[in-house]
Amino acid sequence: DKGGWSSFMAKEVSEEPEAVANTIRGRVKDGEIVIPELDGLDDLFQGVSRVIVLACGTAYYAGLVGKYAIEQWARIPVDVELAHEFRYRDPIVGPDTLVVSISQSGETMDTLMAVKEAARLGARTLSICNTQGATIPRESDAIVYTHAGPEVAVASTKAFVAQITALYLLALHVGRVRGALSPAVAAASIRELEALPEKIQWILENEQERIEQLSRWMSDTRSVLFLGRHVGYPIALEGALKLKELSYIHAEGFAAGELKHGPIALIEPGQPVFVMVPSPRGAATLHAKVISNIEEIRARGARVIAVAEEGDAAVLPFADEVLRVPLASPLFEPILAVVPLHVFAMGLATAKGLDVDQPRNLAKSVTVE
Ligand code: M6R
Repeated sequence: DKGGWSSFMAKEVSEEPEAVANTIRGRVKDGEIVIPELDGLDDLFQGVSRVIVLACGTAYYAGLVGKYAIEQWARIPVDVELAHEFRYRDPIVGPDTLVVSISQSGETMDTLMAVKEAARLGARTLSICNTQGATIPRESDAIVYTHAGPEVAVASTKAFVAQITALYLLALHVGRVRGALSPAVAAASIRELEALPEKIQWILENEQERIEQLSRWMSDTRSVLFLGRHVGYPIALEGALKLKELSYIHAEGFAAGELKHGPIALIEPGQPVFVMVPSPRGAATLHAKVISNIEEIRARGARVIAVAEEGDAAVLPFADEVLRVPLASPLFEPILAVVPLHVFAMGLATAKGLDVDQPRNLAKSVTVE
């Protein structure tokens, strides 16, 4: 039931704040992360020397965000891999490897086969999944459910923010269990985590209309580029995927630092480029680097749409449009920055008269390899 919304996707984007809140609910106690499903499983995280995250599509981009959180808080090296690539390259995996799979449906065949292969090779397996009792969690040693609620639209939106939330919870939990994270840093991070739903709500309330207007103006656009650095990079990839799958427009996401290694050749006058701008307060060096990337593409005529922190005045002279997100420390920025991109992709597809719930050629759950 669309509950009065024009599409399931519109409803599900509106549910992003509660998907995050529900995923946190019941998992914080006295300034610590307590994940009931992982009760008694502390051993799973002892003696682990590396983490491999396996997933496909949007869930893979959540994994890329998770890498930064796990490495920073739990101090374990993390590789993030597309499940179908992992499965067929004779991967080097053993009992000291923790494989974290991410899947909304829990039925994606590529991810399932990769998890089975990892288990066969002796890895410990943990599944982050949105669907109770699905196959991937059943095949795993441990489960952390996301509580986004059922996601009907083919494009994954609320499940994505819930997956990133679960990865934050897991990274904080493992950091504490392994003694890599101080109680003070954990408590401060948990406070930030708990503030996220309200911040996402702020974006929907204050920016959604303007973004939809922008997507209507851009409905004839034939190509859109997305740039990001650090945690902004996976969000650039996610923004591009959503636009491709929903509006059938050519879209590509790049690491901003790669520009001069090739992609800048694509920039011609009028080319729209979304740029994820890191917080000037939380990440001053990164911020300066991204501003200089913006200058480079602007000088070549790009039309810059910046996703930037509210109050970041430095970005104003360089951007044609600025989409505002509330202040958050660097690791938490991606979960906010993605919201305008979800709204934009949905708006542009709607402006083109396309079915946002059921894009052509795609299925909600990809149960073939
Ligand atoms: O159910 P899963 O999370 O395993 O699905 C993975 C991808 O197929 C999925 O995220 C896909 O990329 C979405 N259509 C993206 O919006």
